[in-house]
Amino acid sequence: MNAEAKLLSVAQGREDFHRGFLALQEEHAYEVKQFRGVIPLDLEGTLFRNGPGSMNAGSEAYGHWFDGPGMVSAITFQSGKVHFRNRYVRTPKFVSDQRQGHITQRGFGTQIKGGPLRNLFRPISNPANTGVSWHGGKLCAFYEGGQPFRLCPSTLETLGPELYDGLLNSRKTLSAHGKIHSRTGRQINFGVNLAGIGLSGIRCALDVHDLPSRGGPVRSCRVPLPYFPFIHDFALSENYGLFLVSSIRFGLSGPLMGLRTLSESMSFDGNKPVRGLLIDLRTMSLAKEFELPPALVVHFGNAFERDQEFIVDFFQSDNSEGFDWLCDVFNVEQVTGAGLVRLRLNTKTGRALLSPHHNGLIGEFPAWNPRQTGKRTDRCYFVAHSQPDNKGFFNTVVCLDTETGNIKSGNVGEHCHTSEALFAPRRGASDPHSGYLLAVVYNALHHRSEIQIRDAENPAIEVGAAVLNHHVPFGFHGHFTTDLFGAIH
Ligand SMILES: [Fe+2]
Repeated sequence: MNAEAKLLSVAQGREDFHRGFLALQEEHAYEVKQFRGVIPLDLEGTLFRNGPGSMNAGSEAYGHWFDGPGMVSAITFQSGKVHFRNRYVRTPKFVSDQRQGHITQRGFGTQIKGGPLRNLFRPISNPANTGVSWHGGKLCAFYEGGQPFRLCPSTLETLGPELYDGLLNSRKTLSAHGKIHSRTGRQINFGVNLAGIGLSGIRCALDVHDLPSRGGPVRSCRVPLPYFPFIHDFALSENYGLFLVSSIRFGLSGPLMGLRTLSESMSFDGNKPVRGLLIDLRTMSLAKEFELPPALVVHFGNAFERDQEFIVDFFQSDNSEGFDWLCDVFNVEQVTGAGLVRLRLNTKTGRALLSPHHNGLIGEFPAWNPRQTGKRTDRCYFVAHSQPDNKGFFNTVVCLDTETGNIKSGNVGEHCHTSEALFAPRRGASDPHSGYLLAVVYNALHHRSEIQIRDAENPAIEVGAAVLNHHVPFGFHGHFTTDLFGAIH
């Protein structure tokens, strides 16, 4: 029995959502013909999604959800019709694993078979599986430990590594959470990079970049860090980028010596405060440093400035359970989310106030209207568990009014589970709240996925759904653009 058959057998004996991690090996391109409700005429554009398309290479299973090869989907909405396309990113890792039929490169939580010597000093390979972004005429698939891969937006064909005119190289990487400044159209992104070896060990740096949409110079700054930090995402306002270094410690000697994976070397330290770094994007310099109580912070909602305050909502937890299940997705009982909190940071004094949103929801994947990025906003969309048991995978799409605390939510259906839901504005709408939440939902009963289109102001209302001919494995992040790719005739 090969690894895929083993995974299928394991998944079929477990909770229904486990089958949502199974591979989609085929690459499709077709006009969707099965619908529920209507596809609204004022929904026009392309939803790109990225995530691991498979959890095995031939006969071997990857040891962590983060190590499956990136598969990008493009779902195009035009004139009430829907087109679907998916294609694996042809990274060197993907090509090598496919050609040889087993795991040939090391991952974040995956060792090459054969013991420590086979893994000694081997870097983590890049599956390009975490995010996808359309910016400056380039569609790129991202992974935070490597360089982006550029794709053709119409065919999803892999064009090669994107180095941004020499900004990146094998030692300088870019995160999967770049954000497009809504006023300037520039992409603000960052990389965590090794900066050398000192007396106390490895030195690292946070490199922040301001990338133009079309031509022009890249503006960058570097913040030295005396340790290897966990920084996955950041928050962007009109003038600032906020970075929070979580209370995570990495023991790097084991991974370097090939003894264990980087995933196995990370641990939550309840005595290590979160370190806050506020970057002033006008001067590209560190404006403020501050501390918050120990926490694991993964994803941020939209940020904005009000008077002297930088305000942002983000998900945080006081342990690393949110990471522990990722190395065993076919056995997890509960996909762990986190609680949403609000940070108000005085940009002049550096005083930080943290307060929870008291809604009792355990969720993740915050989203907002991308036209509002960095601007004042009072909506945070996310996915969550239906209460009270919080078991299984996320199954609820939520709209939170962050000013009033009012919640409206919709369950995606029985035996159905959803990854990140993204906001798509109604064509021509000036109201920033007017739009849809697009969720790629896995229906375990039929082992198929559908694109649910929900009213952003009240996700309980499903406007319509495009039912695919197959399933799409659970993914990480996506990008909606009003530009149209994928032919619909
Ligand atoms: Fe992420």
